[in-house]
Amino acid sequence: MADNYLENQYAQYAARKAAFEREKQLGKHRAKKTASSSVSTSKAHQSIEVPLNNFAFHNPVQLYFGEGEIAKINTLIPADAKVLLTYGGGSIKRNGIYDQVMAALSGFKIIEFGGIEANPDYDTLIQAVTICKQEEVDFILAVGGGSIIDGSKFIATAVMHDGDPWEIVTSGQSIRKALPIGTVLTLPATSSEMNERAVISRRAMKVKLAFYGPALFPQFSVLDPTAIYSLPKKQISNGLVDVFIHVAEQYMTTTEYMVTDRMAEGIIQTLVELAPCLMTSEQMDYNVAANYMLTATLGLNNWIAMGATQDWASHKIGHELTALTGLDHGETLAIIYPGTMDVMRREKQEKILQYGERIWGITSGDVDTRIDMAIAKTETFFVQTGKKVRLADYGIGQDIIDKIVGRFEEKDMHLGEHGIVTPTHIRKILESRL
Ligand code: NZQ
Ligand code: ZN
Repeated sequence: MADNYLENQYAQYAARKAAFEREKQLGKHRAKKTASSSVSTSKAHQSIEVPLNNFAFHNPVQLYFGEGEIAKINTLIPADAKVLLTYGGGSIKRNGIYDQVMAALSGFKIIEFGGIEANPDYDTLIQAVTICKQEEVDFILAVGGGSIIDGSKFIATAVMHDGDPWEIVTSGQSIRKALPIGTVLTLPATSSEMNERAVISRRAMKVKLAFYGPALFPQFSVLDPTAIYSLPKKQISNGLVDVFIHVAEQYMTTTEYMVTDRMAEGIIQTLVELAPCLMTSEQMDYNVAANYMLTATLGLNNWIAMGATQDWASHKIGHELTALTGLDHGETLAIIYPGTMDVMRREKQEKILQYGERIWGITSGDVDTRIDMAIAKTETFFVQTGKKVRLADYGIGQDIIDKIVGRFEEKDMHLGEHGIVTPTHIRKILESRL
């Protein structure tokens, strides 16, 4: 199944280390390249030294895309199902999506659970788990953004879990049993609508943890671009940055892949093209909304991850930053990612040069100048999409950095592709973003 590369944070690290050792033994690990100003990224295929990894691919999510598709959900949920309808703080009631969903589900037995917060909280979700058990709910319909979908994935898993539900995020077990869920997406960003991942927070413990598994794929997701017309600019900006960095985590690595690199670059280029329109237009255009929604889904539905070695260090650090400060997910990434590019510039050199050339047209200058330019372009893109890019911009200082690094040091957790990002690197990344 497709979840084999991301079981949990600890298992991932162990697997990466083992894979790295295996590659070393097989003599497959790429030789470190010498810095040269004449590296030509148009010859990327000549530099492939690590082949595509073996992989299995499975993504069973049925997508229903386009205006008016919400009306179809009554054909997608079993007629006799008792449905838990989950949503957030009320945006769906203000923009008419709730009314469309209720109209489509007329005649169904529905129990509502609203009030799931951004960065869904364990204590809130547990209340829904109790309701599901008492009411014998057998289908969950999540209507909202990543937080609602992820929270619903947790509820769906916890209902079927014997034992302490907190084990779902701490055990590292791949999730293979959960209630079926469907989604109506209202915020393009996470791709949770088409993947088997989820992240929840436990504010009482100041932690934010991910869990994965094939049972977390929604059965269906409805993507109606008109549902995103009501998004505040801040959420569009968060989404643009999140999608950009999902792609970067799967692309800006120590490895080059011919076709999936081109797919990743296509997604990033589309974001760069869409961003000014999304951020400045007063009224959203259907075609822009539709293209953005599809782009976001493609960012993390595992297609560009086929056979690829992946990074995810910035996301892991970002989750700690959210857990300790409450910053939005997208806000954390805009701060951290330029630091990851900078601190890991030697390891990721070839890829950063390729990215710089293919996305931003950077073709001249020595290697470090070109890398500096690629980082500057990335940071400027985040600023232009309305993001602050320094910890100090949010009043965050050294004390939080020490806490975050301490958490990774405590477990001797290394991040990134092949575990190349050590706690020392994590400190450097964060300190470079003060
Ligand atoms: O709560 P309501 O009132 O609905 O308002 C929400 C919320 O305040 C609002 N919103 C959503 N759709 C709207 C809207 N407002 C107006 N019109 C609409 N159409 O937006 C706010 C943020 O919503 P949220 O669901 O939190 O945003 P997002 O989709 O960015 O999700 C973020 C969460 O997803 C996790 C993040 O860590 C974070 O917890 N992620 C999940 C991933 C996954 N499952 O694969 C991967 C990501 O890397 C990420 O970690
Ligand atoms: Zn993300």
